[in-house]
Amino acid sequence: MKRSEVNRIMRSAKAFLAERQFLLPPFATWTPADWQKKGPEVRDIMDQQLGWDITDFGSGDFAKVGLFLFTIRNGTLAEMQKKPLGKVYAEKIMIVQENQLTPTHFHHQKMEDIINRGGGELVMRLWNAAADDQLADTPVTVAMDGVQVTIPAGGTLTLRPGESVCLPQRNYHRFWGQEGKGPVLVGEVSCVNDDRSDNRFFDPAGRFPQIEEDEAPLHLLGSDYSRYYRA
Ligand SMILES: [Fe+2]
Repeated sequence: MKRSEVNRIMRSAKAFLAERQFLLPPFATWTPADWQKKGPEVRDIMDQQLGWDITDFGSGDFAKVGLFLFTIRNGTLAEMQKKPLGKVYAEKIMIVQENQLTPTHFHHQKMEDIINRGGGELVMRLWNAAADDQLADTPVTVAMDGVQVTIPAGGTLTLRPGESVCLPQRNYHRFWGQEGKGPVLVGEVSCVNDDRSDNRFFDPAGRFPQIEEDEAPLHLLGSDYSRYYRA
């Protein structure tokens, strides 16, 4: 992805979040120059992979296959293994556009609640993963806001504003915004999440895009921190 495209997506995300009155934490506004001045007191932001996260999953076409995310809080797997009563949870906010696909994947370790926080409608297609990581043909049972729901393998469910679904580990899911309903503000409350190792994409996909630097970054992506933050 070009940096100019990442910047443009950040600007439009900020406008949508403001419209939905969803406020980001202070580090969301830090510039690359701010990051260069920071000391060891902000180390958690880098170690816990917090902040801006924009991906086209390697598709080259963000509008068709892509996702805007911002990680608000997270722990680390390393801390979880050493200190099981430490920070074992995470929270993200995402924006899903109409017909913008997040490709089929499951998580090895992360269980996640996906929540429609307002705007349009989120459609999800679900499968169980077979032992060999293929798509199983068995019915899928998930909890939607405390209610057990069973759909056929590869069936869909729709989250309307306020609704959520709990996806266990090894549940294959893909999702997009329902056509004609507008962009969706999507929340995620989950176990600790390490995006460098926890995602199993059914078809090969890249989780973090290569960035072509055609202008200066507005804000850093999580994958940029190590180039600017030296403490
Ligand atoms: Fe997921």
